[in-house]
Amino acid sequence: MLSLATTVTGLLCLGTLIAAQSPTGNQTNTNTNTNTITGLPASLYVDNAPDHLRPYVIRQYATAQSTVLRGEVFRFYITGPSSNNAFTLVTVNAPQNAVLNVLPHIHERHFENFYNYKGRFQLWAQGEDNTTQETRVLTQGDFGAVVRNSTHTFQMMDPDSQMGGAIVPGGFEAVFFAIGKNRSSTTHTPYDPHFASETYPLGSSNSTMSGEQSFDVYNQPQFTPRRDALNGTAPANTTWHDGPNALAPFGQPYFIANGFGPKFINNETGYQIIQPLVTAEQSGDLNFTTSTISLSTTPENVTIPTWQIRETVALQVLEGMLWVQIAEYDVAVMTVGDVALVPGGVQFRYWTETWFAKMMVLCQGSNGVDSQLIARGGSYDAVVFPNEWV
Ligand SMILES: *[C@@H]1O[C@H](CO)[C@@H](O)[C@H](O)[C@H]1NC(C)=O
Ligand SMILES: *[C@@H]1O[C@H](CO)[C@@H](O)[C@H](O)[C@H]1NC(C)=O
Ligand SMILES: *[C@@H]1O[C@H](CO)[C@@H](O)[C@H](O)[C@H]1NC(C)=O
Ligand SMILES: *[C@@H]1O[C@H](CO)[C@@H](O)[C@H](O)[C@H]1NC(C)=O
Ligand SMILES: *[C@@H]1O[C@H](CO)[C@@H](O)[C@H](O)[C@H]1NC(C)=O
Ligand SMILES: *[C@@H]1O[C@H](CO)[C@@H](O)[C@H](O)[C@H]1NC(C)=O
Ligand SMILES: *[C@@H]1O[C@H](CO)[C@@H](O)[C@H](O)[C@H]1NC(C)=O
Ligand SMILES: *[C@@H]1O[C@H](CO)[C@@H](O)[C@H](O)[C@H]1NC(C)=O
Ligand SMILES: *[C@@H]1O[C@H](CO)[C@@H](O)[C@H](O)[C@H]1NC(C)=O
Ligand SMILES: *[C@@H]1O[C@H](CO)[C@@H](O)[C@H](O)[C@H]1NC(C)=O
Repeated sequence: MLSLATTVTGLLCLGTLIAAQSPTGNQTNTNTNTNTITGLPASLYVDNAPDHLRPYVIRQYATAQSTVLRGEVFRFYITGPSSNNAFTLVTVNAPQNAVLNVLPHIHERHFENFYNYKGRFQLWAQGEDNTTQETRVLTQGDFGAVVRNSTHTFQMMDPDSQMGGAIVPGGFEAVFFAIGKNRSSTTHTPYDPHFASETYPLGSSNSTMSGEQSFDVYNQPQFTPRRDALNGTAPANTTWHDGPNALAPFGQPYFIANGFGPKFINNETGYQIIQPLVTAEQSGDLNFTTSTISLSTTPENVTIPTWQIRETVALQVLEGMLWVQIAEYDVAVMTVGDVALVPGGVQFRYWTETWFAKMMVLCQGSNGVDSQLIARGGSYDAVVFPNEWV
């Protein structure tokens, strides 16, 4: 009953990937399986997102086209070119900052997801209707959805903060390449330690305002961020870390505290707890979903399923470790922050051998891993799986 591919016929879909030439000129898939894919690069691993759609794995703190802007290091694990414009996945490492990290601005065409990987940052968002300006202090695992045409800004608050998430559609990284500076670091340190003692004035954003509009950045210098947050939230009647958070209707920005959003469980192959952050309802015409999935190990008698989805899927490890096998590549063992990108049509399997793992899934379309697991699962009310197997 699983709508999971059990044959390799889907590999024919890889026709579109044939253009990917092995950097060595050798087709070095050592797998003895007879369905060896020709044309894919020998290695799944990259240090920068590829310039075209192909399966890949990129490690946390890889070069990832690192770009520096006002003391923040942006890493682009997924880019427009590497996802065929499905999405950009960026993380930002930065020290505590005394002022806003960016002038308030709007994107008319891009939906920006803000996830807290560690540390603290404050996020402000005001929807297109201009009625209520909301702010939240986000701690690890908290999420903010800045839908199109919301005025927003943020400020890093802890010395060891990492913020990031998907920007949809892909390609938004171009603005950072245009206004930021390339960075090279032989140690791959999250950010340069001397950034912690510098102040980064925002004034320069105003002077480039017209230049940034061509990248879908419309600065809103008249926006005054409210500074009245109590217990990490304002206005005062909002629920933040003290009750459930719902995903908002299409067109409104919203925030979900870690573990306080809706939850579903799927018991088919061990336990998977799916916590949706954006569903097809919120993404609308942009047509993507993103969720966290918390995984148990796989019981002995269960076969790890093979997935094959028409649209592109990306996985990023949030806790524990994840084993991912894509097409006929050797299994990739991934740890926190590592990202795997699977183009539509390509078969893949994932599982964990750590007792508890959590990942972010990012899916193009409305039939991704999270949507399918939810459709075949049920509502659930905890962030951890049960004590016993089903
Ligand atoms: C490519 O394959 C040939 C034949 O197996 C081998 O001699 C050569 O060293 C390989 N080249 C690289 C770059 O791996
Ligand atoms: C910056 O990096 C990009 C690739 O990320 C490259 O195309 C560009 O040439 C680099 N620019 C400089 C000045 O090094
Ligand atoms: C965002 O605002 C622009 C400019 O007013 C408008 O053209 C566009 O339709 C809006 N986008 C959404 C999703 O409402
Ligand atoms: C909201 O404020 C922005 C910026 O001042 C303005 O462009 C927009 O028209 C306002 N929208 C509404 C619905 O009033
Ligand atoms: C940006 O420009 C606006 C309008 O001229 C001004 O009010 C604001 O102070 C400027 N912001 C910064 C950070 O220079
Ligand atoms: C902030 O949290 C504390 C501790 O939970 C609580 O006593 C206090 O009422 C809260 N204040 C507001 C304004 O929510
Ligand atoms: C909070 O109060 C404002 C002003 O009364 C109202 O517009 C808003 O809907 C309220 N928000 C919640 C979550 O109750
Ligand atoms: C696996 O074994 C357990 C008991 O050990 C059983 O309850 C369960 O149905 C089995 N699952 C499958 C898929 O056979
Ligand atoms: C979203 O993608 C699904 C396929 O995953 C497709 O069936 C659906 O029509 C798309 N919806 C929109 C609004 O584009
Ligand atoms: C999954 O397992 C849990 C715990 O045993 C159970 O409460 C729930 O009903 C099961 N859900 C489904 C959809 O099978």
